[in-house]
Amino acid sequence: MTVFDPSILANVTKPVAEARGLPNSFYTDPDVYALEQKAVMAATWAGLSFASYVPEPGDAMPITFCGTPLIVTRDQDGEVHVFLNACRHRGMILLEEKRRIEGALRCPYHSWCYDLKGTLRATPHVGGPGQNAHEEIRRDELGLIEVRSKVWRDVIFVNMDGKAPEFDDYARALIERWREFDQPIVHGGPDSSFKLSLKTNWKLAVENYCESYHLPWVHPGLNAYSRLEDHYDIVEPNKFSGQGTVVYNPSLSDDGRTFENFGGLSEKWDTGAEYVSFFPNVLFGVHRDHVYAILIESTGPETCIEHIEIYYANEAMTGDAYADMRDRNAAMWKEIFVEDIGVVEGMQKGRHGTLFDGGKFSPAMDAPTHCFHDWVARRFEAA
Ligand code: FES
Ligand SMILES: [Fe+2]
Repeated sequence: MTVFDPSILANVTKPVAEARGLPNSFYTDPDVYALEQKAVMAATWAGLSFASYVPEPGDAMPITFCGTPLIVTRDQDGEVHVFLNACRHRGMILLEEKRRIEGALRCPYHSWCYDLKGTLRATPHVGGPGQNAHEEIRRDELGLIEVRSKVWRDVIFVNMDGKAPEFDDYARALIERWREFDQPIVHGGPDSSFKLSLKTNWKLAVENYCESYHLPWVHPGLNAYSRLEDHYDIVEPNKFSGQGTVVYNPSLSDDGRTFENFGGLSEKWDTGAEYVSFFPNVLFGVHRDHVYAILIESTGPETCIEHIEIYYANEAMTGDAYADMRDRNAAMWKEIFVEDIGVVEGMQKGRHGTLFDGGKFSPAMDAPTHCFHDWVARRFEAA
């Protein structure tokens, strides 16, 4: 089934000065959305959740991604796994809500039991009453079906179709760019976590995050100290895009206290900060004293949820002595991300204007946004 004219994409992948944006159907049409789940979300390394949501060995959590029921576990060795949430016997859902598993993950139907690495450990009465084995039931072949996953900067990435390059290759350009931030990060705790529900297609949230062009009008408070001209574009074709500032200078306490910085950072980061949309659906921010990740959970063609998690340089920053500053930092980011809701929801409404042609990019200001459109179009072409 062709749900759109593929030649449309040729306009999107032109150089920014000539390109048009993705057509309306990419934001509103359930058939394009279904195709996108396969071509974009399942065929790349997409953000699924956060490792800190399953902090202890034994923790297990159900989650749905691309319509597929999954389980995230942390095994007894501390490793995170993502499995299909379906028993290998008759396909029963194994886990309905988040909990800590003592011992084994037991199927509620006929009690087949799996450990947190997914290995099938017990099959009661499978060979007849009182017989817990049968020659046709080979436990080593009947473990939970595992989805390729990788934890990076606390985000659990998954490649559902199993065909993407290794994560480290997929992410290499960003890993290299932020090599200095390749060090432990510590989640700030409950005060450093919030989520926002948006009535918009997930891509518009990504696109808005890529650019600083809207700063003067949408974020007047932020713009007062970090102006449009203090920003630069980040464009890594076919990988990620975003923007950076050269005037990062946090003021989070009235008495001059500051968070400790990450170790060994170069001068660039004294006043520098960067904000990158890591395609498809994870938005990162890095600063010398804190970092954050926003995972965009797509919940339909016209809705999504942003999960925001903030991290600091060491355990001490997550203690009571810094609680007021963490609160202030989280509140500042929340204010900025809430300011963006009006425009990302407004762009969604605009995409119901059937004559809208995808839009015209400013070659000077919209290169990061075009970079994302180009990436999406190429994923569709590849599919
Ligand atoms: S479906 Fe799980 S044990 Fe039968
Ligand atoms: Fe914004």
